[in-house]
Amino acid sequence: MVRCWYMEESSFDQRLEHHFDPCQYLSLLELFDCTGVECFKVDHESYETDETLKNLRTERGYTFEDEIHFHSGSPNYEEKLQNFYTEHLHTHEEIRLIVAGSGYFDVRDKDDRWIRLKVTAGDLIIIPSGIYHRFTLDVNNYIKAKRYFIGIPIWLPYNRPAEDMFCRKEYLERLEQGFKVERLNA
Ligand SMILES: [Fe+2]
Repeated sequence: MVRCWYMEESSFDQRLEHHFDPCQYLSLLELFDCTGVECFKVDHESYETDETLKNLRTERGYTFEDEIHFHSGSPNYEEKLQNFYTEHLHTHEEIRLIVAGSGYFDVRDKDDRWIRLKVTAGDLIIIPSGIYHRFTLDVNNYIKAKRYFIGIPIWLPYNRPAEDMFCRKEYLERLEQGFKVERLNA
């Protein structure tokens, strides 16, 4: 299950947990309320037949899927690690199912504070379009994840600032109005 906490701002090794002292954990409901990020649990060893994933794919119409690996032996590891960790947003949701390894997604809450999400095998997360976020490996330096998309995938990141983008304005409106709790299954 995804665990999340408010993250101490630090330029020291991004692959560490970066807790405040004392730790400031959030529940997944609190995370959803202040960001719109949704988390689900999937049987990663037989995800093809997992009911939660099946339902999500049907309800949301995901038609594209692929798998990505990232680890310390990947080509251009250092450069990619920094690129993924650059604060950005997308015009579409970012959906990831972790099938092996682990890592951190960081998302900004409504007050622009970083929340760190620890993801491990079986965690599926949906990061809304228009939210500022970033990714990093943790100290285990390995992740394998499935990506899903509706239609032809667009992975393009737009680095902050991107305040004039339609998806950003739309996200801020949704944040202001409150996210629909019935979509959460966590
Ligand atoms: Fe992203």
